[in-house]
Amino acid sequence: MIYDNHGRPINYLRLSVTDRCNLRCFYCMPEDGINYLPKKELLTYEEMFRLVKIMSDLGVSKIRITGGEPFVRRELMSFLWKISELGGVEQIHITTNGVLTAPLVPELKQIGIKSVNLSLDTLDRENFRKITRRDELPKVLDCLEQLLKHNIAVKINAVVMEGKNIDDLIPLAELSKNAPIDVRFIEEMPFNGEGNHYPTLFWTYRRILDLLKSHYPDMYKIADSPNSTSYNYQIPHYQGTIGVIAAFTRTFCGTCNRIRVTAQGILKTCLYDDGVLDIKKLMREEADDQAVTHALLHAFKHRAKDGYEAEQKRQSHAPVTESMSTIGG
Ligand code: GTP
Ligand code: 5AD
Ligand code: SF4
Repeated sequence: MIYDNHGRPINYLRLSVTDRCNLRCFYCMPEDGINYLPKKELLTYEEMFRLVKIMSDLGVSKIRITGGEPFVRRELMSFLWKISELGGVEQIHITTNGVLTAPLVPELKQIGIKSVNLSLDTLDRENFRKITRRDELPKVLDCLEQLLKHNIAVKINAVVMEGKNIDDLIPLAELSKNAPIDVRFIEEMPFNGEGNHYPTLFWTYRRILDLLKSHYPDMYKIADSPNSTSYNYQIPHYQGTIGVIAAFTRTFCGTCNRIRVTAQGILKTCLYDDGVLDIKKLMREEADDQAVTHALLHAFKHRAKDGYEAEQKRQSHAPVTESMSTIGG
């Protein structure tokens, strides 16, 4: 296992396989989409596989596949099979919007995918269309049904948005009643690709919790796993759990075990850095595995201690223009 310069283990890679998406959630991208990368700017599957292998040799044991929407990238399933057959990676997880996912669920089960995080902000079709600017709710619900049927652990990610889905929160929480679904409510972050600036966030995790507690007075706290992004709760007799992710107001830095690789092959050792290593360039300059390993280790030993704090300062001066779809969440 590798530890960074602040003693934090690095064992979790969030790998974005594309910056493209088939939805247009307004908190993530503008209606016209973002300027997508040309294909040659993306890491190829061969490059990604090589990177995963090198990282797994360094002790990365958990991978989360993100995007954009990962399943809009062709041949993703073959890539998943390949990394699942690599000894070192113990857990593969996926974050998806679920639009293309339902028919693939049986194969995901065969591959041994540990869990799927499904983005879903409302159960109301018209509201879904407004938030995502696409009328795809039935496919997403079909995906959810398939995941449950195939016993793949599922977490719902719902971004909480003033004036958009507050009335949807309790119906979403109710999903945890009759099925082992973990429903997580997320503070909205200023990453919608349009430079929107939120001087103050109305729906902080405290407010979200207050709303949930007023509806479920018996909801109680349960233990959070060591690197959990969410504070977790349970409603008595419900099969699943409720979580709140303070993505905007809380720092995860102290226990951060995650690194990110963007679709264009840039290593980010913090959600808030602009990229610390161009892995694609290095690989295309024909660096051998040892040289790539060396460059990664150097980056891991120069990680920011508290990128969040610096970011809070920066955001108070200038709006953020990045899209979540480029960052990979
Ligand atoms: P697991 O812990 O592996 O289940 O993943 P996750 O919950 O971090 O992943 P997911 O892709 O489902 O993301 C859920 C939300 O957490 C999204 O809004 C992410 O942007 C946010 N998130 C993930 N990592 C971080 C982080 O390091 N900092 C902050 N502020 N938010 C994060
Ligand atoms: N703020 C908070 N969460 C976001 N996501 C996407 N954009 C934002 C944002 N601006 C979430 C989605 C997805 C996860 C990877 O990131 O819900 O599930
Ligand atoms: Fe696509 Fe996810 Fe962004 Fe929505 S939040 S536009 S589903 S990448």
